[in-house]
Amino acid sequence: MESRLLLCILLSIPAFASSDLLVTHVRNIKKRNAENDLVVNGIEICSMKIDSKVTSRFARNVITSRAVNRGNVHKEVFFDVELPKTAFITNFSMTIDGVTYPGYIKEKEAAKQEYEKAVSKGQTAGLVKASGRKTEKFTVSVNIAAASKVTFELTYEELLKRQFGKYEMFIKVKPKQLVKDFEIDVSIFEPQGITELEAEGTFITNDLQNVIKKTFSDKKGHISFKPTLDQQRTCANCSQSVLDGDFTVKYDVKRTTPDNLQIVNGYFVHFFAPTNLPQLPKNIIFVIDISGSMSGREIEQTREALLKILDDIRDDDFFNFILFGSDVHTWKEKLIKATPENLDEARKFVRGIDTKGMTNLYGGMMKGIEILNAAHEEKFVPKRSASIIIMLTDGQPNVGISNTEDIRTHVKKAIEGKYPLYNLGFGYGVDYGFLEKMALENKGLARRIYPDSDSALQLQGFYDEVSNPMLMDVELHYPENEILGLTKNSFKHFYDGSEIVVAGRFADINQNSLTVDVKGEGANDVLSFTTQQDAEQTAKAFQEQEYIFGDYIERLWAYLTIEQLLEKRTAATGEEKENLTAEVLDLSLKYKFVTPLTSMVVTKPEDYDNQAGIADKMTEAQAAPVVMQAPPLYLSRPAWFTSVDGDPHFIISVPQKEDAICFNINEKPGDVLSLINDPVTGITVNGELIGDKRANSDANSQNTYFGKLGIANKYLNLKVTVTSEKITIQNGNEKTAFTWLDSVTLQQEGLTLIINKEKNLVLSMGGGASFVIVLHQVWKKHPLHQDFLGLYTLKSHKLSEQTHGLLGQFFHPIDFTILEIHPGSDPKKPDATMIIKNKELTVTRGWQKDYRKDPKHGVDIPCWFVHNNGAGLIDGVHTDYIVSSLF
Ligand SMILES: *[C@@H]1O[C@H](CO)[C@@H](O)[C@H](O)[C@H]1NC(C)=O
Ligand SMILES: *[C@@H]1O[C@H](CO)[C@@H](O)[C@H](O)[C@H]1NC(C)=O
Ligand SMILES: *[C@@H]1O[C@H](CO)[C@@H](O)[C@H](O)[C@H]1NC(C)=O
Repeated sequence: MESRLLLCILLSIPAFASSDLLVTHVRNIKKRNAENDLVVNGIEICSMKIDSKVTSRFARNVITSRAVNRGNVHKEVFFDVELPKTAFITNFSMTIDGVTYPGYIKEKEAAKQEYEKAVSKGQTAGLVKASGRKTEKFTVSVNIAAASKVTFELTYEELLKRQFGKYEMFIKVKPKQLVKDFEIDVSIFEPQGITELEAEGTFITNDLQNVIKKTFSDKKGHISFKPTLDQQRTCANCSQSVLDGDFTVKYDVKRTTPDNLQIVNGYFVHFFAPTNLPQLPKNIIFVIDISGSMSGREIEQTREALLKILDDIRDDDFFNFILFGSDVHTWKEKLIKATPENLDEARKFVRGIDTKGMTNLYGGMMKGIEILNAAHEEKFVPKRSASIIIMLTDGQPNVGISNTEDIRTHVKKAIEGKYPLYNLGFGYGVDYGFLEKMALENKGLARRIYPDSDSALQLQGFYDEVSNPMLMDVELHYPENEILGLTKNSFKHFYDGSEIVVAGRFADINQNSLTVDVKGEGANDVLSFTTQQDAEQTAKAFQEQEYIFGDYIERLWAYLTIEQLLEKRTAATGEEKENLTAEVLDLSLKYKFVTPLTSMVVTKPEDYDNQAGIADKMTEAQAAPVVMQAPPLYLSRPAWFTSVDGDPHFIISVPQKEDAICFNINEKPGDVLSLINDPVTGITVNGELIGDKRANSDANSQNTYFGKLGIANKYLNLKVTVTSEKITIQNGNEKTAFTWLDSVTLQQEGLTLIINKEKNLVLSMGGGASFVIVLHQVWKKHPLHQDFLGLYTLKSHKLSEQTHGLLGQFFHPIDFTILEIHPGSDPKKPDATMIIKNKELTVTRGWQKDYRKDPKHGVDIPCWFVHNNGAGLIDGVHTDYIVSSLF
């Protein structure tokens, strides 16, 4: 359903030649002369062009970038592009001094072997995989000689989907330096005729507005954006580029008939989008996760979105809310009509939704389905009405039935294909693969809601997509014995503003006409449409088009077929899955698409270290805030937290830099350190250090860990003590204790505490500041190490501006600049100068572990390491933070 197209280009050249490090957001703040504006670290980008051609919704985009090494030594040049997740790369090549090195599409395993072989001969290439909201990254780097030129060319293809009445292309550009020749050029050809065409950019200032040239008439549309060098500057004499943001193209086509059929070279495509039909009333069940982990921002955003949704519910709709924590609560026992009185009551209910307990997803789902089934059985809702289940969760089922396979079986059996199920996964704690499988096998889809300030809008936006059903049970019939390779041709619902696309090929390549029947249940009666088309009519409709890529219908068919087979494969098992895999692989290789089963291998010329690059495609289920392979320098999405773990390593995330700072503190076992101290909310967190079982003879290399944490809220007279053995809560004079073997959800005035047996505990206090304490268990008979604790703070914005302590002082926005990256003592970890708090510190690139998800192995978080107990970074010196006791 992703209809947006996003691509982001950045060419970034580190200040040293032989390494494969890519650092974003490192601005060179040094002043340069005007003439040298174009050359950054020896590299000039002569041109960058994004050329996009769209024929009948099928887009082929070619990105070309040319760079020259103006320095007098070899330099590594990076070509780093973000592509829409829904796009497939189809070609890539590099041309160095006139010689072209092409990329080859291979089966993933074969590609991997080839890549590893190349790597074993030389250095690893600048290889990064990262997944953002709508994009995935493609990176290639090449080492080029002084005065050499390199041209990168990347092609990708995508079917633009219609949403809210428009096809949308979303282009995000970020060249990171001034480019002599910069151009975006979009040509659209739509045989039905174009009715509107818009282009806008988030970085477009008033001055740049008229640089966007836009024309369209009848079937053709054209957009060009070609800022001069001066127009690219952030100010008259600045050498920084304003080109940093999203460029969006939107259009729609004329619809005199609901159908549009196109036939070319033995393939056909059928677009179906009726307009002006009355809407079907709908019956919506919202199944909402209210478990403890939703507390704070997530539940606030959910309430906000639900309130907006209630404003949009139509008076002939029916609806209900099912909430699940450890228990399942229903708002009403039945579906309720959306009368003004009922909506008012629903608003009150939604405002009162609060979090509690664990995640009984199974119970919530089954209750929702039961209520919807009963409504249909009792004929309580209109016969012609569209029923929808929308489920929102941020976690994994752990109460009731928690085996996801079993949940899927039960849910599928209960729904029986009667209603589409839409699963919304809030954040990265969900088992997205499970949500996706369950949605797909129930005629719906899964969507990730990204934890951000706009999460409520994302939720609401999803509702808007499915809030206007116009037809149910849409079946598109094609003469059976004439067609092969038909893509999906039956759809549970058709939503206003969208479009159904079906493609296929003729059994007889010479066949040149086709008759199609479409049937669907409308609000008042059964609707049917018949259309006939032949190849000559299509050819006539296309005669004015100069740039047609002749095989576009065939490629569109292949694209759609692969996309749908991959979807089917998601929930398939055994032989069926093997067959689907073989089919997708076959088509991907034949049509040269980089899909999750294929890779593109680029072997760089022998002369330049025999490096290799590889482009893979990821699925949303594999996406995480940070997904990386070597090198560890690129952080695509910020890890929004501060933490202290290990012997003790502190990690401070700096979201606006999409990066992190880290440091260690070395004190003695028995010392208590002040981690967080907020005089306004009264919350303090202190930690007591323990050492290894035997003291190390060398006092300087003595390892220390947190063995005891004390979390208190003095206004609530509440103290929580956590050790690696037990958790004690003291509320006034009342004392409660648990061990790590308990699974507990505790909710009381001002405190929510969830113990995930032998793993971690989540604690929210007062206004919503929350902490995760991770239990690290070492082997009981380990000669040296003992169990210890890690502390992660989330939602630290809930604490006041006056918060201090080793972690607390970093809850306020902090900024830094990195300069002069240069090789350090460890070849894998370069040093750099960090400007922070008006000081210059020498820092080292490294990484620390985030153990929240995986307490055994952790996830690497790349960061800039500040030496000497955080000297210069922390206020005062580290010994200032030693306090006398835990509370
Ligand atoms: C890939 O791009 C290269 C360079 O433009 C071109 O020579 C080649 O024909 C393209 N391959 C395909 C399959 O389009
Ligand atoms: C830009 O630089 C030129 C030459 O250095 C100078 O004369 C001019 O005043 C500067 N303009 C601005 C707006 O700073
Ligand atoms: C898989 O493919 C084989 C060979 O084409 C076929 O015989 C078999 O029935 C297929 N199995 C399934 C489960 O589709």
